[in-house]
Amino acid sequence: MLAVVPPPVTVRVPAKVNLHLAVGDVRPDGYHDLVTIFQALSLADEVTVAVADEPGVEVHGEGADQVPTGASNLAWRAVRLLAAHVGKDPDDPKVRVVIRKAIPVAGGMAGGSADAAATLVGLASLWRLEISRDELAELAGKLGADVPFCLYGGTALGTGRGERIVPVLARHQFHWVLAFDRRGLSTPDVFDELDRLRTDGDPPRVGQVEAVLEGLSSGDPRQLALLLGNDLQAAAVSLRPNLRRTLRAGVDAGALAGIVSGSGPTTAFLCEDNDTAVRVAAELAGAGVCRTVRVAQGPVPGARVIATEEPK
Ligand code: C5P
Repeated sequence: MLAVVPPPVTVRVPAKVNLHLAVGDVRPDGYHDLVTIFQALSLADEVTVAVADEPGVEVHGEGADQVPTGASNLAWRAVRLLAAHVGKDPDDPKVRVVIRKAIPVAGGMAGGSADAAATLVGLASLWRLEISRDELAELAGKLGADVPFCLYGGTALGTGRGERIVPVLARHQFHWVLAFDRRGLSTPDVFDELDRLRTDGDPPRVGQVEAVLEGLSSGDPRQLALLLGNDLQAAAVSLRPNLRRTLRAGVDAGALAGIVSGSGPTTAFLCEDNDTAVRVAAELAGAGVCRTVRVAQGPVPGARVIATEEPK
């Protein structure tokens, strides 16, 4: 009897921005306790998983040449982790992962985490697993602090290392402009820089998360703009002083507020509406302060299957 090979599965997965990112002290495990609000944006990677005799990872698109395709690739680690979890051989999972990137690499937008989350969702479908999103989120948390949020998407409160997720109701659409920097930043380097700044001085700390939750529920971008904040911003700007100019240029172009996204160096600008976002994007692109710009909306759903292609 011929074995039936399941068709490849393609998953779309969003980038994230942190509307609020409060960083606590460094913990014994090297991570920092966080209180954060994530929002998933309409800038997305697509990940296809397929049964293959020649296993591995392929990466195309935005920043593809900077993504490792070996054992350290987070999507491949997701393959191995889920294989082991369901009793398959993690050393020979017979899977090929093809990643089409739009999320900047090492940009502070959870690009690698997104690809890992998409891989988990894709494999659950490819292997026809009876596995809940919460069970996948448990595994996701072992891969990285941002991976569980990439599964859920929307707007959510993250605590612990950022991996404990509670959804936040945000019915309104917010309009963003994203400015990609010329080179990425390493997340551990940015956390280390914050620790250093805090040893030497007293960099600004964000306010209470409750105010941001209220701003979100108002749906008024002007109110939310006043409340955006990121403890990692001082550290990212310290490592990349040019970000100061980018942040100023976005606000000068008409954005309500600009912040460094996560550990940076991508900057995110909240705008009044879509027309303003398009105008701000054009002006930022012309100002020569970043590599490229994108307009995005949020919130959008987390990793989800968009296609299962029948074999020809
Ligand atoms: O979770 P992930 O592997 O993406 O995190 C990358 C690095 O960022 C960690 O190794 C750590 O240095 C830093 N980090 C942290 N505290 C967090 C999340 C990340 O210090 N809550």
